[in-house]
Amino acid sequence: MNKVVLVTGASSGIGLATALAATDAGYTTVATVRRGSAELAAAGVDTCRLELTDPDSVEACVAGVVERHGRLDALVNNAGIANSSPTLELSTMDTLRHQLEVNFFGTIALSRAAMPHLRATGGRLLTVSSVRGVRGQPFNEAYSAAKFAVEGFMEALAPVAAAVGVRVSLIEPAAVLDTRFIASSTLDPARLLAESGPYEAAFRAYRSWVAGGAVEGAQTPDEVAKVILHTLADADPALRVQTSEYARAYVAEKLTDPTGRDQLTTTREWVTPASS
Ligand SMILES: NC(=O)c1ccc[n+]([C@@H]2O[C@H](COP(=O)([O-])OP(=O)(O)OC[C@H]3O[C@@H](n4cnc5c(N)ncnc54)[C@H](OP(=O)(O)O)[C@@H]3O)[C@@H](O)[C@H]2O)c1
Repeated sequence: MNKVVLVTGASSGIGLATALAATDAGYTTVATVRRGSAELAAAGVDTCRLELTDPDSVEACVAGVVERHGRLDALVNNAGIANSSPTLELSTMDTLRHQLEVNFFGTIALSRAAMPHLRATGGRLLTVSSVRGVRGQPFNEAYSAAKFAVEGFMEALAPVAAAVGVRVSLIEPAAVLDTRFIASSTLDPARLLAESGPYEAAFRAYRSWVAGGAVEGAQTPDEVAKVILHTLADADPALRVQTSEYARAYVAEKLTDPTGRDQLTTTREWVTPASS
């Protein structure tokens, strides 16, 4: 019998690539969407509607998978939203809460609903985090906070889940191009710049750092999907799986810097105007 994998956020980007790759690899794949996907339909991938912020939708999605396919062997928590909350003073509490609501609480709610079924199969719980879930990214405070929360939760859960036969892994990509991630952000850099007051110079510097090389080491969704598939098949998967050498070196800098001094030296450069 084929293993059954549930991949969230599969209408585009990493989720779509993962759902298609899992289907090709012989998994019975259920892909979650909030709107129809011609590519998933053409590949014959089973889909289910999922809105992560709606508890009924979360429960119904997992129940539907088990009802239709009889089991659940792996959950790939991939659905997520980009940062829409530039920095503390320029954010509203609503935008900060929404970031945590989708990227943290939504992910945890679905994992919670899936856990009894993963326990029954000795399954896998994978979550697409980010290198920004290890190193705080300037002007991405809420996004980093949500991904840090996911990382902390899953790291703490991992030994407990392993005790009941479920392996937990975090997937950490750096930049991934050709997804809808940036387009889906409600953050408008031009408006933000006009309204950024005391943060204007730092935000301008950050924008030029982004334009000048932040996509260094960028991957395609297919490349990330390949790493996810490899992790699903790995008999002894790591807790943290960086999806490229670039991502590995990026997080390693943080993990060997217990005081955070080196980290701050680097990130302060990103928000310092070139002339100062
Ligand atoms: N792109 C990057 O540079 C990058 C880097 C590191 C990590 N990541 C992580 O990779 C994951 C996938 O991102 P991506 O780049 O592939 O972006 P994407 O193309 O925008 O895909 C995100 C998916 O999540 C779904 N989604 C968003 N909010 C949801 C909600 N409330 N309920 C259910 N589904 C929801 C979207 O559905 P709709 O189409 O309906 O909006 C979409 O299918 C995210 O967790 C992201 O944090 C991305």
